[in-house]
Amino acid sequence: MEKTRENYLAWVRDAHAMEEQAVTMMTGMIGRLENYPTLRERLQQHVAETEQQADALKSILEGHETENSMLKDTIGMAMAKGQALSGLFVSDEIIKGLMASYTFEHMEIAAYRVLIKTAQKLGETEAERVFVKSLAQEQAMADFLADQLEPTTGAFIAREEADLTAKR
Ligand SMILES: [Fe+2]
Repeated sequence: MEKTRENYLAWVRDAHAMEEQAVTMMTGMIGRLENYPTLRERLQQHVAETEQQADALKSILEGHETENSMLKDTIGMAMAKGQALSGLFVSDEIIKGLMASYTFEHMEIAAYRVLIKTAQKLGETEAERVFVKSLAQEQAMADFLADQLEPTTGAFIAREEADLTAKR
């Protein structure tokens, strides 16, 4: 199971970088959102959840960690900062941000499902429990964002037609 363990640690590390990226993305969005309070509040709640998820992943990593893999995670985070800024400052940033968030949550769901299966194979039961909890949070956020697509688009269109600030 040595190869499986190596893959597992790489995937935990990737998931940690992904959650750090999620916090950066969502914080950026929250800072600019003005006219979509439902979305803003739910994003704030999910930032808190995501910070806990990142901490949990970090603890799992620290249980196994080597120096060289921490370095890789740092590089992942630097890339995340750049990506987080793209898509903002456009005339329909709320719509772009909503679509990006919806996509991102589904990437997180996929990552946790892979981690759960791998943790099961390795008998990492405590880690598996952590991943199952995070998966439920990601699924709930993905469901919320899915439900927001039409109402937010409707609100955006209505605000634009009324010459109100629609983009954020
Ligand atoms: Fe998430």
